[in-house]
Amino acid sequence: MKVLVIGSGAREHALAWKIKQSPLVDKVFCAPGNGGISEVAECVDIPADDIESLLKFAIDNEIGLTVVGPEVALVEGIVDSFEKEGLKIFGPSKVAAKLEGSKVFAKEFMYECNIPTAPFETFDNVNDAKEFLNHVEFPLVVKADGLAAGKGVIICNDIKEALKALDEIMVERIFSEAGNSIVIEECLKGEEASILAVSDGENYIVLDSSQDHKRIFDDDLGPNTGGMGAYSPTPIINDTMMLTVEEQIIKPTIQGMSSDGTPFKGVLYVGVMLCEDGPYVLEYNVRFGDPETQSILPRMKNDLVEVMLASCDGGIDKIKLEWENKVCVCVVMSSGGYPGKYQKGKEINGLDLVKTKTDVVVFHAGTKKEDEKYYTTSGRVLGVTAMGRGIEEAISNVYDAVELIKFDRCFFRRDIGAKALKFIKQAKRVSSRIKS
Ligand code: AMP
Ligand code: GLY
Repeated sequence: MKVLVIGSGAREHALAWKIKQSPLVDKVFCAPGNGGISEVAECVDIPADDIESLLKFAIDNEIGLTVVGPEVALVEGIVDSFEKEGLKIFGPSKVAAKLEGSKVFAKEFMYECNIPTAPFETFDNVNDAKEFLNHVEFPLVVKADGLAAGKGVIICNDIKEALKALDEIMVERIFSEAGNSIVIEECLKGEEASILAVSDGENYIVLDSSQDHKRIFDDDLGPNTGGMGAYSPTPIINDTMMLTVEEQIIKPTIQGMSSDGTPFKGVLYVGVMLCEDGPYVLEYNVRFGDPETQSILPRMKNDLVEVMLASCDGGIDKIKLEWENKVCVCVVMSSGGYPGKYQKGKEINGLDLVKTKTDVVVFHAGTKKEDEKYYTTSGRVLGVTAMGRGIEEAISNVYDAVELIKFDRCFFRRDIGAKALKFIKQAKRVSSRIKS
């Protein structure tokens, strides 16, 4: 079978890398791909949101399965377009993708289905939203309804910040029509984790947990980014908590979408906040997480293509997922200055030194290959990923690999996975106190 992966980041590199290992697959294409992806797939120069050209390519090349990385094409209905032509594609329909495409839709759906999420109000009129601010406590969170490339969530500490956020989103329209409506919700406190489940519309299987690191600097300081690293599994989600997330969030989401006549197929990503009284949904995504996927897939023993085909055709509940009994950590190496201004075109050295290491793989986020050399092309450049028998060993292995890779003005966080270590130490202290 020929498989087409859509997208150009490290998540798509990880997907193409894992898909290529499937005995069901003869060839992998990636549109548009990047320098690193070209090592495992044939890159095709079609943008990830050009549904018409992607469809034509899939028909002309007899693609047996298409896998969509980023959300834009899903929210615009790529799955409906492909299925209309009888093509197999992994992901949700346009209406089901509204779980990510509209925060107002997602919040109202959670409210209807009794799924735990922060208390909220929705507005499509800026004056009503501003009036509402006179009756609330701070901090609170203002969210643009539509897709905003991960920038549409603003945490406001006082009324001045909230008024500014409302003006930016609803008047200045910094996210254009994504700001037609907004959600205002309570600010939750706790640890965040990412839970991914694959569904065939009726049933689902849950992947091992992971944790993203969204801020640019160590200790979660500085502005938000596309994600500076991740690790899997996270000790913050123990077996009991995973069952709670499944019962209170995943199951009612899949059942609710099905009974609304909009069954959800593909991968459902739930961003949860673990609060004192249990897990709350911060957001749904209708695709694989980036960089979570880079830390999840190296541990997956199953054939990912079998899992995806079961999502498309039904029978996902027959699959039993198996995982390497190791921890995997992914550290993102970025261009200095990101998420602000940065320079591109820097030569990357040391990638060959890392290739010889076992249990280490480098997923490319923004590179191009010219004359057998790699150059940086974007803010996030590489997702260096390593496994270890525990979190400590995985962290040590990944940073050993990171130290071998060099490019001018390279930047990375030095504390990826540190939260897991801290959590484990704290849990040990508590249990020894209880025993003594
Ligand atoms: P979202 O795109 O909705 O996940 O929001 C992006 C990030 O904003 C999340 O990963 C959280 O760090 C933060 N966030 C979103 N909603 C809330 C909330 N209700 N309380 C606290 N932080 C939030
Ligand atoms: N890691 C956050 C996301 O994929 O949206």
